[in-house]
Amino acid sequence: MAPPAARVLVWDWTVRLFHWLLVLGIVAMWWTAEQGMMDWHRRLGLILLGLIVYRLVWGLIGPATARFSRMLARPTTLAAYLRDLAGRRHRPHFGHNPAGSLSVFAMLAALATQITTGLFAVDVDGLESGPLATLVSFETGRLFADIHETSFNVLLVLVALHVAAIAAYLFLLRDNLVRPMVTGHRPEANFAAPQPPSRAPWPRILAATAIALAAIYAVATLGG
Ligand code: HEM
Ligand code: HEM
Repeated sequence: MAPPAARVLVWDWTVRLFHWLLVLGIVAMWWTAEQGMMDWHRRLGLILLGLIVYRLVWGLIGPATARFSRMLARPTTLAAYLRDLAGRRHRPHFGHNPAGSLSVFAMLAALATQITTGLFAVDVDGLESGPLATLVSFETGRLFADIHETSFNVLLVLVALHVAAIAAYLFLLRDNLVRPMVTGHRPEANFAAPQPPSRAPWPRILAATAIALAAIYAVATLGG
């Protein structure tokens, strides 16, 4: 029997947990807003705030595949990658590929906008509001609510593109990106050169978690 193929850890467990909690969280945020369950919308919103803060900090101190500095591709690298893709010359990337990185930055920016504006949003009759709405005028709160509504639509478009891109990699390029986002691993043979596993050291996980919890605490107390 052939020995099992060597595998390398591409996504640490915290990035994977972040991703799937985010997916559940966004569905829950849409559902609670749709049903007028605003108490739950606000509570879950604080959890999403913690998640995004964790991921932003993780982009600075996490392993290589989570780092923003490594995800920033030069325009020439991106153009070369897209040319290869158009010619169906696909070589799996260790971490996000240059086009994927762009979509990740866009989704994180839309999410950060969605969450920040929600904190200050006020509905039209002033009955429902985010925890920090007391810090701004009613007009400013309404402006945040308008942006909150628009950024949700932007987020939906970005998520649709994201899922379509993942499906295209699977069906057109025969590259299953979903499995590594679940198990964390890819076959080592996928990569031209050996790669270090994307381990998440505990002290860094704790530091990022502490900052995320501090953000939630600050919002919960500032709003009074
Ligand atoms: C609300 C819906 C979704 C949002 C907001 C979202 C957002 C994201 C974000 C922010 C990342 C970057 C992960 C990181 O570096 O931290 C990502 C990656 C990824 N997502 Fe999603 N996602 C959504 C739904 C899905 C679904 C439904 C699937 C599976 C069908 C999926 C599969 C993936 C995969 C495979 C990656 C890694 C892509 C790569 O290899 O570069 N996502 N997603
Ligand atoms: C990913 C995160 C979020 C999503 C997807 C989301 C989604 C939505 C949606 C779809 C609406 C209805 C918009 C409309 O048609 O009027 C809404 C309203 C609202 N959201 Fe969020 N939200 C998020 C985060 C937050 C957070 C963090 C807070 C505050 C803690 C918040 C507070 C509010 C408030 C106060 C409204 C009412 C505004 C109005 O009716 O004009 N949201 N949200």
